[in-house]
Amino acid sequence: MRTAQQPATRHWRHAVAPGGLPLAGHALLMGRKPLQFLASLPAHGDLVELRLGPRPVYLPCHPELVQQVLVNARVYDTGGPVKEKAKPILGNGLITSDWADHRRQRRLVQPAFHAARIATYAEVMERECEAESTAWTARRPIDVSHEMLALTARVTARALFSTDMAPHAVAEIQHCLPIVVEGAYRQAIDPTGLLAKLPLAANRRFDDALARLNQLIDRMIDDYKASDDGDRGDVLSALFAAQDDETGGTMSDQEIHDQVMTLLLAGIETTASALTWAWFLLGRNPRAEAALHAEVDGVLGGRAPRYADVPRLAYTQRVFSEALRLFPPAWLFTRTTTEATELGGRRLPPASDVLISPYVLHRDPALFPRPESFDPDRWLPERAKEVTRGSYLPFGGGSRKCIGDVFGMTEATLALAAIAGRWRMRPIPGTKIRPRPQMSLTAGPLRMIPEPR
Ligand code: HEM
Repeated sequence: MRTAQQPATRHWRHAVAPGGLPLAGHALLMGRKPLQFLASLPAHGDLVELRLGPRPVYLPCHPELVQQVLVNARVYDTGGPVKEKAKPILGNGLITSDWADHRRQRRLVQPAFHAARIATYAEVMERECEAESTAWTARRPIDVSHEMLALTARVTARALFSTDMAPHAVAEIQHCLPIVVEGAYRQAIDPTGLLAKLPLAANRRFDDALARLNQLIDRMIDDYKASDDGDRGDVLSALFAAQDDETGGTMSDQEIHDQVMTLLLAGIETTASALTWAWFLLGRNPRAEAALHAEVDGVLGGRAPRYADVPRLAYTQRVFSEALRLFPPAWLFTRTTTEATELGGRRLPPASDVLISPYVLHRDPALFPRPESFDPDRWLPERAKEVTRGSYLPFGGGSRKCIGDVFGMTEATLALAAIAGRWRMRPIPGTKIRPRPQMSLTAGPLRMIPEPR
């Protein structure tokens, strides 16, 4: 195992990724089999250079170098072509804002995710998880991906916009969000930037879905302002109430709009993908499934899970943590240097793109023994403390660490417990699943059979 403390004189290994072609560099390898390609790179060096087209990009493979990038958010800022393409969709919110503005925005949005607020959102989670787990018919196959996306869309929408949000608005989010996420990803990986401008049916669908989401958010904001409700306990109320400690400033309607769009895009598909992977993994690991059932039965004794149960659902949380390790939804994200700097002894010019891949760290046998095996108990406290610091990053790190980490963990724990209390999710023999590294690391359709327990 690598140790967290490295001597100051450490000699970092640099490498150029093998397999580059004269013009395309490694773009074809990244396009065809990005997960396998990226996961092969730590064997070559601590800092690996690859070329996606003409530009070099850098992949730190050692957790210490990854930490250096994440904690130095001023020098390693969000940026580059991916951010520019995300701006027309997300506006200027937490994900797209540059370093200086991000600090102000984070101060304003953070209160919406304080523990006391999460306890209120958990009431929505409890209700929706219970509704989901009672909606299925015994032995009628379901598409787990679809169900988990519907569940997290309902939870997030209702936590954002108050609990009595009209059902048609939730349905609108459920319909539009996957189209926007898919279109945003297509645009992000299009090196020419021309795809979005072509008169394609997919582009028209994307434009329409984005316009509908924007209208829905505007309507929610207008309704809130007209209602005179004060604090409804939802995220929107917290955003309206937020006041910057340092400047006394608040957020404009447009800023609130952009934060809401950002939360919808960042919070729904990520949690749904990880939940889908958790069911997939449990279906292939009967011992882990039995341990989950035993915990859920012992803690809940047949009733629906409540927020207060979450700390006692420790195995359930370990299952989710392990699903996040094997299939981290945010499998790849980027930073761009704002000035010349040095990483692992290598000089990086300004505007260098740096890739951060939790997937690469999570699958590195030097960091996680038997990395391919699904072993929730590697997160038992006594074993977890052996894990090299900075090598487990499903929620990122530094000042841009996921603001919804506790929200997502709470939601997933309640969802797993509510469903596992009622159903055994039986895999359908012969089902083949290939991870789809898109905006999130999704499983695609996953049919399973809910068997009453
Ligand atoms: C299991 C579920 C989730 C995973 C794996 C996940 C992962 C991540 C990661 C890795 C980042 C950092 C990206 C970067 O550094 O560039 C991030 C940021 C973010 N996430 Fe999550 N996320 C999850 C759930 C959520 C939820 C439920 C919400 C909101 C309700 C949310 C909202 C955000 C926001 C707003 C950011 C940007 C934070 C900032 O830059 O200040 N996420 N997420």
